[in-house]
Amino acid sequence: MNPYQNKRRWKYLLLFFAIIIAASSLWYTDFLVERISKSERTRAELWSQSFKKMFETDDDEMMNYLFAVRDSLVVPAIVTNEKDSIITYVALDTSRTYDKIETDKKYDPKYFVRELKSMKSQHQAITLELNGKTSYVYYKDSYLLTQLRFFPYIQLSVIAIFLIIAYTTFNSSRRSEQNQVWVGLAKETAHQLGTPISSLMAWVELLKDKFNAEDDPLILQMENDVKRLEIVADRFSKIGSKPILTSHSVYETIKDYVDYFRVRVSDKIEFVVTGDENQEALLNIPLFDWVIENILKNAVNAIEGRGKISVNIVENLVKEQIFVDITDTGKGIPRSKFDAIFQPGFTTRKRGWGLGLSLTKRIIENYHRGQIFVKESELEKGTTFRIIIKSSLKYVPTT
Ligand SMILES: Nc1ncnc2c1ncn2[C@@H]1O[C@H](COP(=O)(O)OP(=O)(O)O)[C@@H](O)[C@H]1O
Ligand SMILES: [Mg+2]
Repeated sequence: MNPYQNKRRWKYLLLFFAIIIAASSLWYTDFLVERISKSERTRAELWSQSFKKMFETDDDEMMNYLFAVRDSLVVPAIVTNEKDSIITYVALDTSRTYDKIETDKKYDPKYFVRELKSMKSQHQAITLELNGKTSYVYYKDSYLLTQLRFFPYIQLSVIAIFLIIAYTTFNSSRRSEQNQVWVGLAKETAHQLGTPISSLMAWVELLKDKFNAEDDPLILQMENDVKRLEIVADRFSKIGSKPILTSHSVYETIKDYVDYFRVRVSDKIEFVVTGDENQEALLNIPLFDWVIENILKNAVNAIEGRGKISVNIVENLVKEQIFVDITDTGKGIPRSKFDAIFQPGFTTRKRGWGLGLSLTKRIIENYHRGQIFVKESELEKGTTFRIIIKSSLKYVPTT
């Protein structure tokens, strides 16, 4: 069971709950808005009735009562006559007037026209018979109701922004933690290997002297293995510090490594390196070799039996980049796993650690400022990985 399947499951589950929470919050506010809207309609109707009754009654006490009722039922409203002219209004800006006669207020008919228009668009008018003539009461949502309509959207957006910020902060701190583990472990490994390797080197020299066995194949093999150990320690020390990059021919570097590698694997696998020999890039050789080794090893693992691994180096003139395409005729990678294979711990091999490609990606992206991805892959046909690195000076052969 790999951890990424679990992670994806959690992602979907959390997304599902987030949608449920957002939807129920929207649904509930909608429900509240609906109820308040209904009660505002009732208030507008009662207000209209009391307004009407005021025209019809002579009773002072009744009048006072009606005033009290009317004033307690305030919803922003405008009353118009049959010709759509404004008769009166309520709960709007009282410093303005639609009527030129009222000189103590600001004459602002446009304001009332605007308000009337917005009221018409919101609710159906309440019809009133006043002194035998038909009038219309238009009203609009109270300020409170308007706010309530927008509230969940604002609230959810604020929560979303908060979550995004929290997520990115945690993510970046987690990433820097991971970095520290990588770097620390690499340094420690290099450090621990260092001492026994230097002693081994010395012992090999002593053996040669003692038995006068300068060309003994056993000693040569031993020396080779010690050198190999030295390379491993060197790689770890490079990962643990800021590596120095120098300009090298990409073709030469890869060709050298492939030549070293090909004799160590089954001869059923054919290796071909093609491309422009003059392309140079800033490389750290021990680390870049490690990249090529990881990809070649994976390619070898993907090929069951006979197969071919080809490396092609081409220049992308437009962007001053170099493309390194490594193609195998192995079992291929499903499209859904193109990104996942680069995550630490992802493996499909029984005895794999799933660290090769994540290390490779680190070396290419963090140490060489390049890119690596699966360019294409077809199941049972093969896979092409592409590395993109920035080209440095043109390689000029010395004459
Ligand atoms: N060339 C390839 N062809 C098919 N699958 C590949 C290839 N390269 C990598 N993979 C897949 O990516 C996984 C992760 O690779 P890697 O990080 O090197 O870890 P490991 O080799 O330990 O499994 C492999 O287990 C394999 O499923
Ligand atoms: Mg691997």
